Amino acid sequence: MDAEILKILEDNLPSEIIRKEKEDLEIYGTDWTRYFNPNPTAVLFPRNIEEVQQIILLANQFEFVIVPSGGRTGLSGGAVASNQEVVLSLDKMDRIIEWNELDRTLKVQAGIITEKIHEFAKNKNLLFPIDFASKGSSRIGGNIATNAGGINVVKYGMMREWITGLKVVTGKGDILDLNQGLIKNASGYDLRHLFIGSEGTLGCVVEADLKLTRCPQALQVIVFGIPDMEKVVSVMNAFREKIDFSAFEFFSDNTVDYVMEHTDVKTPLPRRHPFYVLMEFESEGGKNNEIVFDLYRKLYKEGWIEDDAFAGDAETMKHLWGYRENISASISSFTPYKNDLSVRISNIRPFLKEINRVVLEKYPEFDVLWYGHIADGNLHLNILKPADWDLEKFETNCKEVNSIIFKIVEKYKGSISAEHGVGLLKKEYLHYSKSQAEINYMKELKKVFDPKGIMNRGKIFK
Ligand code: MLT
Ligand code: ZN
Repeated sequence: MDAEILKILEDNLPSEIIRKEKEDLEIYGTDWTRYFNPNPTAVLFPRNIEEVQQIILLANQFEFVIVPSGGRTGLSGGAVASNQEVVLSLDKMDRIIEWNELDRTLKVQAGIITEKIHEFAKNKNLLFPIDFASKGSSRIGGNIATNAGGINVVKYGMMREWITGLKVVTGKGDILDLNQGLIKNASGYDLRHLFIGSEGTLGCVVEADLKLTRCPQALQVIVFGIPDMEKVVSVMNAFREKIDFSAFEFFSDNTVDYVMEHTDVKTPLPRRHPFYVLMEFESEGGKNNEIVFDLYRKLYKEGWIEDDAFAGDAETMKHLWGYRENISASISSFTPYKNDLSVRISNIRPFLKEINRVVLEKYPEFDVLWYGHIADGNLHLNILKPADWDLEKFETNCKEVNSIIFKIVEKYKGSISAEHGVGLLKKEYLHYSKSQAEINYMKELKKVFDPKGIMNRGKIFK
């Protein structure tokens, strides 16, 4: 804790928005990454935009660093405050401001829990399609800051697609109202998109206009057992030619053990299989079910699919989704080292082959888990820490392998972070995804919005 900064905060801000108790510092100084120790100076809970602005102006005046904070469900350390920073929590700015029926947009404060938006949309018989397992605790400002993805990106795209307006307080302390909820707007640079995915390094998102869309009708879920990773891609390609699915997820057999242990369920299929895929699609009056089952029979005969479980009712669907959505929570106590890679679909096959070769060679004694959003080209590769290894030894080991993995990512022009963000965890690898010239432009842009470097310093860039 930095006593000088704390005094500045106490002298200039209402006391009821400042917290400095040890427990708060520990909770608000960290996210779900588990690799960094929390050490903030204080946590601030502004109640409106003016207070956010006041805090940012104060940070400029006295040059202290701010870490914007949402639900802290991030997996790259983007919301970690381990360096005596001041955490700016959006917890108290969590309201729905306005529903616009004609525009089908919802204006919200940045601190609203993501699931609240889902519930609101459902009550209107509409859908907010950005969906992922941590939606019950994540907050929309954090989702915007990381351009969140999740399980339905293959059909609906990432967070970026669903924001028609954004209000931000820049690192300089200016309030900008970006794009004002417009669908069409060709009036020069669209700064809204710079803030989406900027991980709190340019300023703080305080409000957003979100688009809602038609609710999918009669969703169906099917889980297949698949004999090898290559066939996961073949099966996806085969179904992609016939139907527009809304999700196509995969997971390796060992993930099932952790989910069973954690959630007390039985195996998804009567027999075990090396891999599973979960496909979600709209029935379209039964038409798609027929297409799916016809193709299933064909692929079964060819040995691409080994077994299946099908759900058309809500309860069974939820149960099947559980095998995929509960993976992350089921393995979190094993301090997984997470890779969140992506490549173009056309590169996914050779990419997977090369990565798999490295994994088999370099991690022979580790438990390696594969899962992810294969239809978006997004693979989550998780390496679990052996119980008798300390964190430092484990991290050093994973980092050595990282450079090999990221060289393959670079070769296939992929991304070192598909949806989790760069934060602290991936910043030293950014150059594998972006050229030095591009990184330099990013740094210059940061200086424009945040000349004193007070916003989330040390995140994204080395
Ligand atoms: C997921 O797809 O489950 C999430 O991105 C979280 C994770 O990778 O663990
Ligand atoms: Zn994911």
